Amino acid sequence: MVAGTRLEDFLREHTTTDISKTLMALARACTVIGRMVNNAGLSDILGVTGTTNVQGESQQKLDDLSNQILMDYLTQTEICAGYLSEENDDIVTLCPTGKHIVSIDPLDGSSNIDVVAPIGTIFNVVNRLSKQGDVTPADFLQKGDKTICAGYVIYGSSTILMFSTGNGLHGFTLNTSDSEFYLSHANIRVPEKGKIYSINQGNIEKFDDSIKNFLNYCSATDKETSRPYSLRYIGSMVADLHRNFLKGGIFIYPASKGEAKGKLRLLYECTPMSSLIENAGGKSTDGKQRILDLQPGEVHERSAIFIGSKNLVDKAESFLKN
Ligand code: AHG
Ligand code: MN
Ligand code: MN
Repeated sequence: MVAGTRLEDFLREHTTTDISKTLMALARACTVIGRMVNNAGLSDILGVTGTTNVQGESQQKLDDLSNQILMDYLTQTEICAGYLSEENDDIVTLCPTGKHIVSIDPLDGSSNIDVVAPIGTIFNVVNRLSKQGDVTPADFLQKGDKTICAGYVIYGSSTILMFSTGNGLHGFTLNTSDSEFYLSHANIRVPEKGKIYSINQGNIEKFDDSIKNFLNYCSATDKETSRPYSLRYIGSMVADLHRNFLKGGIFIYPASKGEAKGKLRLLYECTPMSSLIENAGGKSTDGKQRILDLQPGEVHERSAIFIGSKNLVDKAESFLKN
């Protein structure tokens, strides 16, 4: 793998034509979204649309625009049969003869849009199960270990596409001069011994004692394990995990009083991120089992998640079992 290789050339060499088509469409769509995000303060696209999504969350104008752009680019591939999005109530058939099923969080970290903190797009691709015609819920309700391609694009101080097609985790940085992605992070391995924990600690009163005890462990002093660990929380899953992928650490969004399955969505947040972390040598669990082994029951299902460096996820699990 040569640093600086153009995304399209890399894909030609390392994956199938079908996956290349879908990934290139996602990359192109995200290039447009990234440009929109960069210029958002200049066009009237900040703030809310005034509508809520199926989960009752208020939709930002950029959530909605990103969703439209992704659907347009994926439709043009003619290979994407079905589309599931945080911003659509129902699954959508894009191309009745297509092969791929794509689940997407068009813009992750919406609450950070107006304050220019990093946000992202998360995607997960599986093969369709139905033959042709309209896609069915069963096409989407596949366990994470059926993923053929997962990734995200972070819109931060750089725009970076990170993805895996099952052979490692690779990062491509957008060159804003020619709007092409180039290989910048080949075969990333998440550090085995992380020293960062990321969680919305403001919710601590709603957490089980096992979580509180793990947080006390993280903030306790111990020379041998380099504690206290650092607490870092941006509030965009993409941004928190991007940092932890590169530096090591654990990201937790647990179940809590009032959120029996946590907050994050299984098919377009937890599953793709878990597929990436496993491809980078890390670990991801809902506290009881591997995220990639969970059988989704409905398309907007939520899941608790503990994801990151193996030593920290193992440690968190040891508290959960007590
Ligand atoms: P989204 O903007 O797609 O709805 O996702 C927001 C998610 C995720 O990005 C982040 O990790 C989490 O919400 C933050 O939630 P809290 O504000 O409850 O910490
Ligand atoms: Mn999200
Ligand atoms: Mn979102």
